[in-house]
Amino acid sequence: MTFIAGTGIAAVALLGSFGDALELVKSTSEAIRRRSGHEEPPPATPVVAADSERPAARQPVLPPVEFIGRYEDLAMLMGALRNPLIPLITLKGVGGIGKTALAQEAMRVAAAEGLFSSIFWHSTPAEKFVGEGVLRTEVADYSFDALVNDLLHHSQVPSSTDAPTAVKAEIVRAWLADHRVLIVLDNLETVPDRDALVAGLFEILGQSKALMTSRYAVIHQRVFTMNLEGLSPQDGVAFLVRTGQLQNNRNLMKADADTLARIRDAAGGAPLAMLLISGQMDYEPIEQVLRVVEEAGFNDLSYEFYSFMFRRTWKELDGPARKVLVAMRLFEGNPTAGAVKYTADMADQEFYRAAAMLVRRSMLSLVGGQDERYTLHPLTRYFISTDVASRWE
Ligand SMILES: Nc1ncnc2c1ncn2[C@@H]1O[C@H](COP(=O)(O)OP(=O)(O)OP(=O)(O)O)[C@@H](O)[C@H]1O
Ligand SMILES: [Mg+2]
Repeated sequence: MTFIAGTGIAAVALLGSFGDALELVKSTSEAIRRRSGHEEPPPATPVVAADSERPAARQPVLPPVEFIGRYEDLAMLMGALRNPLIPLITLKGVGGIGKTALAQEAMRVAAAEGLFSSIFWHSTPAEKFVGEGVLRTEVADYSFDALVNDLLHHSQVPSSTDAPTAVKAEIVRAWLADHRVLIVLDNLETVPDRDALVAGLFEILGQSKALMTSRYAVIHQRVFTMNLEGLSPQDGVAFLVRTGQLQNNRNLMKADADTLARIRDAAGGAPLAMLLISGQMDYEPIEQVLRVVEEAGFNDLSYEFYSFMFRRTWKELDGPARKVLVAMRLFEGNPTAGAVKYTADMADQEFYRAAAMLVRRSMLSLVGGQDERYTLHPLTRYFISTDVASRWE
């Protein structure tokens, strides 16, 4: 990981308003506590339950992605998914490069083509919720036993989760022998014993297939690894043009081709980095944003880069926008506008103005569909939880 000296100082200086941030977390949580005695139940369930109280086999509600470019990667991945000689596939790449988005797109194509009888998706969370606080762990305690339980749940074969792992694994193996399932394991890098988990899965896989996303390599002799790089210059510019429209970010929409190419290059084509850079155009000339990024001297998409960009954006958010972000972190999945507004205890106008600002600044995405729903990227959620919330005792 490359981290140029001096950047840390800049990042710490940006945290001047941390006291305010912590107050905000505190007051939002207190508002929720106060409102918990309210007769009317909140419109959606904030994630405040301890881990042990959460159902074992939650399937995430994935926000739909309007997938752009990466035609060659997608073609290669679909080829691997169709190839009976390839049982395990890893999409490997740095944070925010687009691993999950590509896996989602492949899942969509595979479903449309009827390549599998069913699709199982598990995203390992990078953080644990304990009581009302959030405890970030570098690793998540997802194990082979937990995967077997989730697959059993997915298979709907009646069984007991209390049975020994070997017994349950045998039931799953027998089921997978008759069913061609696409098993997607997202964020595998957070699993401590991932190689053992993959080895165990391989033994019971039958004619099914595992697709994994990970920042690190998965070690297995039968794994086919695709190293994801950033979007090509052409795809990167197309992504930025579409982002400007979706976010209603006027400064991004007005940017000329040369500026868009510079943003793509500064981000190394990583979609998440492009989103964070272009989001700052909402309140600052792009020249200034690019100069700051260049002066910070990041030459890879390290944790420090994302942290630096997140803090920079956070510093320029007003109180209502911060309040919406902090409330968002309490939800799992994609809450409706009404649920977030209720949780943040905000009036309509204030809420929608704040949410629109967050969307333009790439802190929040609006998920299309019948009802308005919002979604946080896992990295944004992580930064709110660690950089903002976790320091509040
Ligand atoms: N080809 C693409 N077209 C449209 N949007 C994309 C594309 N690739 C990535 N994105 C968007 O960019 C953001 C980052 O991508 P994604 O979450 O897939 O990265 P990741 O590599 O899985 O990151 P992490 O390591 O944090 O899990 C997401 O909002 C995603 O929807
Ligand atoms: Mg991901």
